[in-house]
Amino acid sequence: MLKAAGLLLFYFIGVSKVLQQLGVIKPGETRVAGTSGGIIGCAPDFGIVGHDKFLAVGKEFVTRCRAKNNCAGILDSEVSRVVEQLLPPDAANIVSRGARGARGAAVNGTAYILFANPNEKGVPVGNWTNTYDSRDDLAQAIRTGVYLPMWSGPAMTRPFRGVRSYDGGFRRALPCPPNVTFCVTASVLPPLNFRELLDSLNEPYTNRVLRRALSSTLGAHPMAFIQNVMLKNKVTSYKVDEVVLGTVAYLSAVNPGPDVHIYPGKYNKNPYSIWEWLLMMIIPPTPDEIDIIVKMGADDATSWAREQGLLPPTGSRR
Ligand SMILES: *[C@@H]1O[C@H](CO)[C@@H](O)[C@H](O)[C@H]1NC(C)=O
Ligand SMILES: *[C@@H]1O[C@H](CO)[C@@H](O)[C@H](O)[C@H]1NC(C)=O
Ligand SMILES: *[C@@H]1O[C@H](CO)[C@@H](O)[C@H](O)[C@H]1NC(C)=O
Repeated sequence: MLKAAGLLLFYFIGVSKVLQQLGVIKPGETRVAGTSGGIIGCAPDFGIVGHDKFLAVGKEFVTRCRAKNNCAGILDSEVSRVVEQLLPPDAANIVSRGARGARGAAVNGTAYILFANPNEKGVPVGNWTNTYDSRDDLAQAIRTGVYLPMWSGPAMTRPFRGVRSYDGGFRRALPCPPNVTFCVTASVLPPLNFRELLDSLNEPYTNRVLRRALSSTLGAHPMAFIQNVMLKNKVTSYKVDEVVLGTVAYLSAVNPGPDVHIYPGKYNKNPYSIWEWLLMMIIPPTPDEIDIIVKMGADDATSWAREQGLLPPTGSRR
């Protein structure tokens, strides 16, 4: 499984519910790879949390973020809170299937987390791990794989195992776990046409959607937000090259190819416009919207399963 996502990660919960019901994914046994928000969306497939608890924690999280400038500038500390709620004490053992190597060291597990390291030129290089020494090491891997410069916290990167690292969406390092016989891929984004996206920026409708996102982020007191969050975050310490190369890398790396098995709009119409949808990668949806997004994932996974013959075609009786 490959998953990129931001806060649209709730789509994967719908996909996961259907694939688990069909036995395509056996939580904690099937090898699963995730990147960006998709890592958190993989938690039920890593076998560390059930869907219902995940959604309860997720809805509390979006409600908190919506009340805090969409968590702009502080997302990492809120993610840390969520990870603490989601990971059981033996989380590292679960993803290692209880196996221990020499001297109790963790061995290769089923949970593949993708992240990226900027090289000396600031170009993101893909990296991944499926080996976790402890619950805290796993928590750090998750927080690293979803770390967005500036949005998650003041720093451009966060240290992971002593190396500057950030969101795996900057580089797809591992499209699928190595040596799997069949890899089902899912993405929250449809294949993007950048030309059309740019053209639609001039439309009044898109403009309204973007303005709403901006005002909900900056809040009622934009200057206070800029002073308290943006300036405190020492915007000047960013290397421009890293920001530009990172943004370009991110957009091209998370853009799925047409060969991805499950994505919104492939089988069923996406009720959201493309800009509304893209913005929900960083602007938290409401709890009601989460229910809609989960259902979209479930409907799309069901359609895929029908196409594969894993479910009877529509209209037929069991
Ligand atoms: C097991 O882990 C090692 C070290 O991280 C890695 O090089 C290797 O590719 C992994 N094997 C599998 C099957 O994931
Ligand atoms: C990949 O991550 C590991 C930590 O898991 C780190 O030791 C290694 O240096 C990283 N590779 C690169 C190219 O940065
Ligand atoms: C994948 O399988 C090949 C052939 O069986 C083996 O040589 C290679 O080490 C395996 N790779 C991993 C990462 O396990």
